[in-house]
Amino acid sequence: MVLPREIAKGEISVFDYHDISKHRIGEYAPGPLALDWDQQPEPFRTFAGAPAVELPLPTKTSAPRFHQLTDGTAIPPAPPSLTALSQLLGYSMGISCWKVYEEIKFALRCNPSSGNLHPTETYLAVENFPDLTSGIYHYDVRQHSLERRSVFAAADKVAEPSVWIGLTSVPWREAWKYGERSYRYCQLDIGHAIAAIRMSAAALGWSVSLVESMGDDQIADLFGIDREDDYVECEREIPEVVLRVNLDARTNTDCKFARLLEFPETTADPKWSGVANRLSSEAPVEWPFADALPYRLLKPQTDEFAWVPPTGTNRLPTASDEAATDIFAWRRSAQAFDEDAVYPRAAFARFLESLTPKRNVPPLDVLPWQPRLHPVFFIHQVEGIAPGVYLAPRSDDAERILRSTLRGKFDWTPVENLSTTLPLYSLVAAKCRKAAKHVSCNQAIAADSCFAVAMIAEFEDILAEGAWKYRQLFWEAGALGQQMYLEAEVANFRGTGIGCFFDNEIHQILGIHDTSFQCLYNFTVGYPILDPRLQSIAPYAHLEKQRPTPHAD
Ligand SMILES: Cc1cc2nc3c(=O)[nH]c(=O)nc-3n(C[C@H](O)[C@H](O)[C@H](O)COP(=O)(O)O)c2cc1C
Repeated sequence: MVLPREIAKGEISVFDYHDISKHRIGEYAPGPLALDWDQQPEPFRTFAGAPAVELPLPTKTSAPRFHQLTDGTAIPPAPPSLTALSQLLGYSMGISCWKVYEEIKFALRCNPSSGNLHPTETYLAVENFPDLTSGIYHYDVRQHSLERRSVFAAADKVAEPSVWIGLTSVPWREAWKYGERSYRYCQLDIGHAIAAIRMSAAALGWSVSLVESMGDDQIADLFGIDREDDYVECEREIPEVVLRVNLDARTNTDCKFARLLEFPETTADPKWSGVANRLSSEAPVEWPFADALPYRLLKPQTDEFAWVPPTGTNRLPTASDEAATDIFAWRRSAQAFDEDAVYPRAAFARFLESLTPKRNVPPLDVLPWQPRLHPVFFIHQVEGIAPGVYLAPRSDDAERILRSTLRGKFDWTPVENLSTTLPLYSLVAAKCRKAAKHVSCNQAIAADSCFAVAMIAEFEDILAEGAWKYRQLFWEAGALGQQMYLEAEVANFRGTGIGCFFDNEIHQILGIHDTSFQCLYNFTVGYPILDPRLQSIAPYAHLEKQRPTPHAD
């Protein structure tokens, strides 16, 4: 793979990066002292000259309901079509609405992103799919269309339709605002995207598998992001992950990875079309650690291995009976919370249950490894649960180690009668609004919520298996965050991801004094106070004249 940018001199380890990208009281991770608004990166990537296939606009559908995605209901698989592909992409990586405030207009998307900067780009490798020439496509989010980057010459006519999704990051989009900490945010956003795509697929009766074995060079090669000629003087992308879309509900552990690698060899001449747009007029500002890290963490091809989660469903009731696609489209980050609101106990139990991976239950079944992140709850106002700090270890192994690692004075008193697979332990009973706000870089949303969450990762042991697993830890945190957003939304509450936190202050509260465990992401859930100044415009208002919305069901 051609390295897009000069790698910073000197050896840095993933531990060095993690340490320098920590926010500390009085010393935030290195970042721009002031934002250069003239250089704010364009949020939409396009490939000029690539033939575009317009997708039909996504439609609101009344079925399935959100709870049916996880309660064992059999959702009939949608037949492969451009309409289904439109729903898949539109309700995961697509625009959810435009917001307007005075002269400012910006798009929000179904997937959240730190600072709404959206570093994640989406590609498809498609073979024998109706109305699509087999080849590689880039998803143009604003136009809701597929830009054809290359054509497979010898698509196997016998093979079934197949769709693979490649995700990449444009690091500059996040680095513009967040400097050295930005690489973490790119990875969290990938985790959100993986879960959003998995959920959107579930609403079509499809499933998604993460192709863990694929190497980063192979991903870059397949989707053409290593092609220097197509990225002349413009911001490069780094390879992240490939997902196989299974056109039925079963998570297919046989990812037919070898078949995917045959594609580039069968690509027709001329091989590629389209050149990437430039996102800022000046060259990206350099952040030595965040710039170098992606090349330290390149993943080699590895053996195919899939951890299969235990069977189960989540049948705990939802507070509302909304359609799945409505929940995906309505998901928003709260800007402020009503501090008097109380989160219902039943909704909290469902929230907790949804963090346990179960076979063929989206979205967490997409991660092919045993859970490595464990939520610590700062409970402020949840019905029937006293304020305090709680822990829900997501594996028995982790619970054993956490019991000996965390502060010796913790109570470890189980919360009874929650009817959840995950145990919830009270560590310390105390009002903790101030503490939650303090560790979250003093953001009021962590204090005024019903509860806040800190996601603690098994760190040293996982990185000993391969430095590139650093990325997977953030993906898992992001996927959990996406699930938390959706569960809060269906409970008629709202969540917000919190990437800005004082890492070591959280470790201090928990008694973590080494790197055996590290906090990678925070989250907060409460009853939102809406900002009446912001006006909303429908997501595809700009396209409706040219492309009428097909009839909803
Ligand atoms: C990884 C990540 C970190 C975030 N960190 C914060 C944060 O520290 N504070 C905050 O108010 N919002 C945070 N957000 C919320 C984003 O600002 C929000 O997703 C973005 O503005 C888009 O809005 P939407 O989520 O309503 O679509 C974070 C979101 C993500 C995905």
